[in-house]
This record gives sequence, C-alpha cells and structure tokens, in this order.
Amino acid sequence: MKRIQRLPDHLVNQIAAGEVVERPASALKEMLENSLDAGAGKITVDLAQGGIKLIRVTDNGSGIAPDDLPLALDRHATSKIHSLSDLESVATLGFRGEGLASVASVSRLTLTSRPQDSAHAHQIVAIDGTLHPVEPAAHPEGTSVEVVDLYFNTPARRKFLKSEATEYAHCSATFERIALAHPHVEFLLRHNGKVVQRLPTQTLAERIGAILGRDFVDAALTVDAEAAGLTLRGLVASPTYSKASRDAQYFYVNGRFVRDKLAQHAIRQAFRDVLHHERHPCYALFLTLPPEGVDVNVHPTKIEVRFRESQAIHQFVFHGVNKVLANTVAGSTPQQVGFGQPPSDGAAPAPSLAPSAAPTLTARPVYQQQSSLPLSVAREASATYATMFAGVREDEQRLANRPALPEASANVGSLAAFAPATAAALPATDPDGLPPLGFALAQLHGVYILAQCAEGLILVDMHAAHERIVYERLKTALEADAIPSQPLLLPVSFAADKLEVATVHDEATGMQRLGLDLAPLSPTQIAVRAVPIWLKDGDPVELARAVIKDVREAGMTRVLTERRNELLATMACHGAVRANRQLTLTEMNALLRDMEATERSNQCNHGRPTWVRLSMKELDGLFLRGR
Ligand SMILES: Nc1ncnc2c1ncn2[C@@H]1O[C@H](COP(=O)(O)OP(=O)(O)OP(=O)(O)O)[C@@H](O)[C@H]1O
Ligand SMILES: [Mg+2]
Repeated sequence: MKRIQRLPDHLVNQIAAGEVVERPASALKEMLENSLDAGAGKITVDLAQGGIKLIRVTDNGSGIAPDDLPLALDRHATSKIHSLSDLESVATLGFRGEGLASVASVSRLTLTSRPQDSAHAHQIVAIDGTLHPVEPAAHPEGTSVEVVDLYFNTPARRKFLKSEATEYAHCSATFERIALAHPHVEFLLRHNGKVVQRLPTQTLAERIGAILGRDFVDAALTVDAEAAGLTLRGLVASPTYSKASRDAQYFYVNGRFVRDKLAQHAIRQAFRDVLHHERHPCYALFLTLPPEGVDVNVHPTKIEVRFRESQAIHQFVFHGVNKVLANTVAGSTPQQVGFGQPPSDGAAPAPSLAPSAAPTLTARPVYQQQSSLPLSVAREASATYATMFAGVREDEQRLANRPALPEASANVGSLAAFAPATAAALPATDPDGLPPLGFALAQLHGVYILAQCAEGLILVDMHAAHERIVYERLKTALEADAIPSQPLLLPVSFAADKLEVATVHDEATGMQRLGLDLAPLSPTQIAVRAVPIWLKDGDPVELARAVIKDVREAGMTRVLTERRNELLATMACHGAVRANRQLTLTEMNALLRDMEATERSNQCNHGRPTWVRLSMKELDGLFLRGR
C-alpha cells in the first residue's frame, strides 16, 4: 500500500466538479442561480456549440467587490451562509460555496463584475483552476461569468459529452426550468448568436404559457392551496391534456426546481382517479414552506430535498391537487375540441376551436353561458325541463317511500331515473338560468347525446359520462359506509369453481358493503340476490364475477382499502349504460343534470373527456359564416 498524501486543491476541485458539473447545462444552472441570488432583474445567456464552447451569463444583480473576486472562485467561500444555523434555513439557491470553483477547475473562466453604485468594474481570469490577478475592466453594474471550453483539461469527461444538439437541449431545459420559477425576471437566451428565447417580466401564468405553451395553460386548472405555513400554487393540466411522457412536470420547492419522489407520488395519487396509468400528468407547481422545514443540502446539485415532515407535505400536495381535480364538474370548464380542416376549397383557414374562456391563474373557471340566452327562451326551456323531469321525480319519490328499499332516498341511478339525489342538486330554477350542459336534442348512433346549451352544441359520450357518475356515487357511498343494494326480483345463479364459492362464503359481509348479496347455492353454483342500486341495469353475473375475481386475487381487506377505487371503477364499467341503448329525452336530460352535479365528471375513469362543447361561433366558423 502507498503512503497517504493530501490532494492539491486544484485536484479536489476537479473531483468535486465531477459531481456538480456533469455537463454544460449544470454549469449554466450554477451561473443562473448565482445571478438570481444576486437579485438580478435581467439575465442574458449566450451559448455557443451547445454550451461546450461558450456559456456566458450576464446579470444586473448586486455585483462582487474587486477584493472578493478571487474568493468567489475559491472553494468553500460563500457570501450566503455563515454558520450552521444559517444552513438550517437557507433562503438562497446557492450556499455550498463550490459552484464557481468547480466550473473554474474544468474550464477557462472569466468573472467580471461591477458592484451596484460603484464606478468601476474588475475582472479575474481562471484557467485550469489557476487564478490570474484582478484587473480593471469595462462592465455595467452587475456580473458576467464567461465559461469557455468546458472540460478542455479533463479529456475523459469531455468524451462523455453528447452531440452539440443534445447538450444544447439540456441547457435549454435548464434555462426554462429556472425561468419558469422567476417570471418577474427578464431573460434572454442566445445560441450561436441567434436569439432563441426572449422572456419579458411576466405574470406567472404568462411565463408558464411562454414556456409550456398556451395550450397547456388553456387546458389547465389552477391550484391555490394554503395551510399552516405551506402554500401550493400553480397549474395542473386537466387530465385530458396529459402527455405520454414525463416531460411537462415542473415542481418547485421555495423557488428551486426539484425532483421529489414524495411530491410526484402525491400528485400521481391525486390524478389516479382521472388519468389512465400510462399517461403522465402535466403540471407546474410551486410549493413554499418555511426554510427550516426542508433540508436542501442532500444532493451536490441540489436537485433533491428532504422534508422534515414528509407525511404532512404529502397530504398537503395531494389534497391541493385533488381538490381542483374533484372540481371538474361537467359544464364548469370548457373542454378542448380538436378538428381537422373543414371541407372547403382549401383557401379558408381552419376555424379555431379553442375554448373561449381559458382559466387563468387569477380567475377561476365559471359557468359562463347563461347570460347570453334570451330570457323567454330560457324560461321556456326551464319549464319544459321541469315538466319532463316531473315524472322522474315522482318515480324517485315512490322508490324512496317503498319500505323494502330504505336506501332509495340516496340516488336511484337506473336508466329509468338518472336523477340527482336531492332537489338541491337540480340546476337552478332561476328563470334566466339554463343548466350548463343544456337540454338534450337527440341521441347519435346510440353513442353520443346531443344537447343544446346557451352557447351552442354539447356532445356527451353517454357511456363514459354515466360510468363516471356511477363510479363517484359508489365511492361516496362506500366512504360513508356501504353501497345501497337493490334486491333482484328473481335471483340469478351462475356456475362457479370451488374457490369462487369459498370466497363468497367467507366474504359475505364485505360483499354486502359493496352492495352485493351473493350466496353459495351448491359447491358449484352462486346466486346473485341483490346488486348495487346504481348497477341494477347491468349484467349481475358479470358484475359478481368481476368482484369475486378481485377479492380472490387481492383479498377483501385490500379490495376495500388500497384497491378500492380500481374495484369500484370496474363495477361502474359493468353497470354503465352501454352503447346502442336507446335513451328517452328525459333520461338524457337526467344524465346531463347528474353530470353537472358530479365531481370529476369532466373525465371518464380513464381520463378521456366525457363531453365537449361547440359554440355557435365555432359552428359558424365551420360553415364560414360571417366572413
Ligand atoms: N452573478 C453573481 N452576482 C453576485 N455575486 C456572485 C455571482 N456569482 C457568484 N457570486 C458570489 O460568489 C460566491 C461564490 O459563488 P458559488 O456559486 O461558487 O457559491 P454559492 O453560490 O455561494 O454556493 P453554491 O456552491 O451552492 O452555488 C457567491 O456566494 C456570491 O457571493
Ligand atoms: Mg452558486
């Protein structure tokens, strides 16, 4: 074994650089964070050859005193913390005092700065980690850091660099992550001399739109939660916008972009109910909490953090997101519609079918279509509706009064009565008020319901919508206690294997909570005696089989806890109205009213939209009217 020796500082820095400066984008991140910590209001980035040749960041921040210039490039030298207690409540992006030292050890770096209110600028050059003397220079108030030829002195690392295009893409992603969180700062990005992004000072919504695209913002829901010193703000895309990749997931803790498993998990959970598992939710969310509540010193590039009270944070993030997703009641936010070019001579541009009222960070989505309808029309429609609905109400009343069915005061979700539970859930009877989803006109090919609303035409996917309604009812009922069941007039039996029969025998109580009354008839037969009241029009045997299968595979306890929503979704799918089933206008209207009263009814259980709206303007556009 050789003798132990102390490593030279330069080598220590180079080793540290391995952790901090993985590629040009990581050097850019260090530099941008320093500019933000210096309070810059404007930051300009110049890149050449994907950042491999040149990264220059210029800011108008506080600047560095001439005597401090060598220190800025020294390892373990920082102006941001002084003591251990400072480390416990870091409010700046940097604090380790190694960012610039690491970059300088693997490049040719020039640091030029003029402190605010100072008449002169000074400069220091570091090549291969060797500092040259501080010299006067020309520079406006603020700081420039210029990094040339990254890894010129560490060929092994240089070999790991990817193509210019790839390195540029990483730099651009880094730039966007940082710019997204600082809308009040002006940013400019140039690559090989060309301006690629210019961001003026903006509101958060505008900045998100500039970086993630207008369509993201248009399809987004506003998150704005606050509790016990925590806030969660930002946008989540409505589930129908979700992407197949994880690209558009931006999560920040106290302004710092992080990859946090805990937060990702909480957000995924909130989306679980409305998003197909292969799709990824899109979001830009900003969590703030007192700095003492989070340890930022757990990763050299600070991409990870550790929360002191992780459980509470998980809950808070989950609820913040879940709440806005639960608010996607049908009719409350416009659904995106996408169409190809209308048949035309090709000269006319495609009509824009973007929703008319995009939710913004300040304005919540509102029911926006009633006011434009002439009073008389609205009155007439409401009256017609009341008449049509009267029958359904009576049916429901009768059922509620039937002694054999005490649960029927909860919803009767059969096709004969898609009615909401209480009169309060009905649309406003205000003479001016039309329900958001309007009134049914007809059924199209047994699949879609067409309805007229104040703004134009509503199209509803009836199976998807009904499935969601039934699913939400099952969830609410089970959360409260048990799902009300409806005895079948004639029990049906089906052939089953021994394990299925045993499952039914063992789990009768659990099955009852699920609204199912199953009984072993013989060692090879099971009888279905009652089904959940909202599923009585479905196939009882298919339903029973599906539930038994789940219980057998996962066990009743898990089925009633962690796998509950999956099971209820399966049940809802079996009970939901099938395509090609003819509905009367009354039934269709009742379904529309139910959608308006049901949480998350904008999406089916798989995240597809349940309805879309075509406004008169959009329809006029299709026919090139008014041009
Ligand atoms: N753009 C800038 N404007 C003003 N001061 C700067 C700028 N860049 C660096 N400095 C000064 O140089 C010091 C060293 O910067 P460096 O990035 O190496 O460390 P840090 O930001 O303190 O911590 P970290 O290693 O976590 O980034 C900073 O503490 C700051 O005082
Ligand atoms: Mg720094």
